[in-house]
Amino acid sequence: MILIKTDRDLETMRSAGRILAEILRRVQEAVKEGVTTQDLDSLAAGLMAEAGVESAFLGYRGYPRNICVSIDDQVVHGIPGNRVMHQGQIASIDMGIRYKGFYSDAAVTVPVGTVSREARRLIDTTRKSLAAGIRQMRQGNRLSDISHAIQQYAEQHGYSVVRQFVGHGIGASLHEEPEIPNFGRKGQGPILKAGMVFAVEPMINQGTWECEVLDDGWTAVTADGKLSAHWEHTVAITETGAEILTLCAGQGS
Ligand code: MF3
Ligand code: CO
Repeated sequence: MILIKTDRDLETMRSAGRILAEILRRVQEAVKEGVTTQDLDSLAAGLMAEAGVESAFLGYRGYPRNICVSIDDQVVHGIPGNRVMHQGQIASIDMGIRYKGFYSDAAVTVPVGTVSREARRLIDTTRKSLAAGIRQMRQGNRLSDISHAIQQYAEQHGYSVVRQFVGHGIGASLHEEPEIPNFGRKGQGPILKAGMVFAVEPMINQGTWECEVLDDGWTAVTADGKLSAHWEHTVAITETGAEILTLCAGQGS
């Protein structure tokens, strides 16, 4: 894990976060009935090039696209392709970039047109479980306080927390230590301090937490075929608390 020690590096991380958030916002606005997941990837690739940043995912362990798009029971790492999105589905869009040697990583789950109440509730609960985790990110707390808060929030609302995929440190690489599970007891792991930057990314399921990976070697799906949602922010711990880096200018969490 790198510790961000200078204001200059923190400023670069802030820029990496803001640029990513703007691109993610434009891509999520393009989610509609009839659009393919590859259309979203191509849009993201164009916006990244225009902004002068690189996809952090393309080529990562051989990953073949710029972003991940995971539909309905797909939990994470869905590979964009000719799949057409339909009204009533939910789409998780995950992207990471590299900017001036620093990385940022974020994900959202959005409805395709009008979706069921239950799908909306899953999306909202997952977003709020991330917010509950971020509220624990302050100096003096322990790493697992984040994990515990996410799990407690999700399970209180009747959902399950994916175990197989976790959040991570981020900065000079996309994935740095430590791993940040979205479940666990509080009061364990490293003490949080200013300069640490984490990608916190709960994946929350409607049914069982168990997942399987498809034959493409990437796409993770729920074992029972029920829905899954995913939200992620890159968050820095500063002297005064958590600072979410992957927000657009003027945007709340
Ligand atoms: N946000 C995910 C993660 O941190 C996405 C990685 S996709 C990959 O694991 F292509 F880079 F593997
Ligand atoms: Co991540």
